[in-house]
Amino acid sequence: MTARSSPLHERIHYPGGAWEHSHPDRIAANARLYGLNPAPVERCRVLELGCGAGGNLIPMACGLPDARFLGIELATRPVAIGRGLAAALGLSNFELQQRDVLDLPADLGEFDYIIAHGVYSWVPAPVRDALMSVFARHLAPQGIAYLNFNALPGGHLRRLVRDMMKFRLAVFDDPEAHGEDAVRFLRLVTGAQPEGSPYRRILEEELGRIGHNPVGVLFHDDLVPHHQAFHFRRVVEHAAEHGLQYLCEARPADVHPGRYPGPIRAALHRFGGGRIAREQCFDFLVCQMYRCSLFCREGIALAPVGDLDGMRGLRAASPVRPATAPADLTDGIAVTFHAPDGADLHLDDSAAKAALEILAERWPASVGAEMLFRDARKRSGRPGGPTRLERREFAGFLATNHATGFVDLHTWEPPLATAVSDRPVASALSRIEIERTARITSLRHRQVEIDDPIAAAVLARLDGTRDLAALHEDVSRELPAGSVARRHIEAALAGLAHHCLLEG
Ligand SMILES: C[S@@+](CC[C@H](N)C(=O)[O-])C[C@H]1O[C@@H](n2cnc3c(N)ncnc32)[C@H](O)[C@@H]1O
Repeated sequence: MTARSSPLHERIHYPGGAWEHSHPDRIAANARLYGLNPAPVERCRVLELGCGAGGNLIPMACGLPDARFLGIELATRPVAIGRGLAAALGLSNFELQQRDVLDLPADLGEFDYIIAHGVYSWVPAPVRDALMSVFARHLAPQGIAYLNFNALPGGHLRRLVRDMMKFRLAVFDDPEAHGEDAVRFLRLVTGAQPEGSPYRRILEEELGRIGHNPVGVLFHDDLVPHHQAFHFRRVVEHAAEHGLQYLCEARPADVHPGRYPGPIRAALHRFGGGRIAREQCFDFLVCQMYRCSLFCREGIALAPVGDLDGMRGLRAASPVRPATAPADLTDGIAVTFHAPDGADLHLDDSAAKAALEILAERWPASVGAEMLFRDARKRSGRPGGPTRLERREFAGFLATNHATGFVDLHTWEPPLATAVSDRPVASALSRIEIERTARITSLRHRQVEIDDPIAAAVLARLDGTRDLAALHEDVSRELPAGSVARRHIEAALAGLAHHCLLEG
């Protein structure tokens, strides 16, 4: 049967892009923490439903040449764009099929990871149901599904702003030509509210989110005909109707109560009703707007890892920096570590401090959990052999800081350069991207903004044929005369390496 086309996606392009936490490596690391044995990412099979132009799958396919990637997309325009990019990159492990998820063939095959990003909350009920059926039919026995959706109660606030903008656009015959008017109306209503009033604060928050995106995205994210937010519990029940169980969040920090005072955390715990009920309560606590949830097959026993033995094969990476280097590793002396997003972590345990110091030195590379434990013990001067308690505590330290976002856990290491080589190389994908946009996909599947013109000009030339002198000469020719010194090129290269954009 031929797929029906999705009119909005034919008319307005949705830029999409790499969604870090939907990468099989990140999904696998989260699943390992619950005792699952997911497929090694190097040779895994990945399906993405409603994949747009493949902005998420194509970078994965570039980084994992022995894995296989299939994207399903209803609209013809993004399919053509995605196929064009895949051809330009010479990808042979990526396929984009123009199909309706309502109408997929039974012999589509088995997949280790199935992703549906930006679909569930934005399609009618039968398509939502089809997403769950595809997970149920096509997941491997230890396979994991990634599903994001707009969550309640935060979705009520999004709804408020959506209604306001839809109301404004209803006066036009061609609303899609007037996206700016909708945003202007929202700005006017926001500015009219008394400073600090609850209504103003809500509108400001939404304006911040909407104002960040190109206006075309507004029609996909907020003004699309189907737009629904769900209670987490309802989505879990929907998955259960299809023989699937909730595993955990792909972005554990979204549901980690760490930032709340102890009495609130304890009260949440006392509510009872099990994990799903607790997470639903948590959504009310934080006014959850959005979730990226992972599901696996019913009947798999989830056994949260409590020891370093259970972390075998996991690797840790962290961009946090001690406030003063070298850090004082004395037990009981508090040291502050700064994260790039401005958050601070205070630690006083000597091995924990040593571990973060090692990760800071090794960034952007990761370190195996077991080796990190051994090296951190050595650096902190712990005497004798490690005790079982120490191993348990170190596993807890890694898991907690993964959940709060200070440490990333991985199962796989991309070919990253940790230092700038003589003739540096950036991925073919990032060199194509920088010709079109400032939002570049890193080797860790993160979207990095490159707004410095020198860094952009350098990145475009990193095909491995130029050394520092040649880069300086070329970039100087492109940018205003006298504006580029050699040290600017060196700084740009160091920045690109720091953001995981240089291949090793
Ligand atoms: C908001 S976009 C998200 C694209 C991409 N997953 C991302 O997050 O960047 C939703 C996509 O789902 C596609 N879609 C909607 N209904 C579909 C269906 N029934 N079958 C296949 N794709 C569908 C749309 O055409 C659109 O490209």
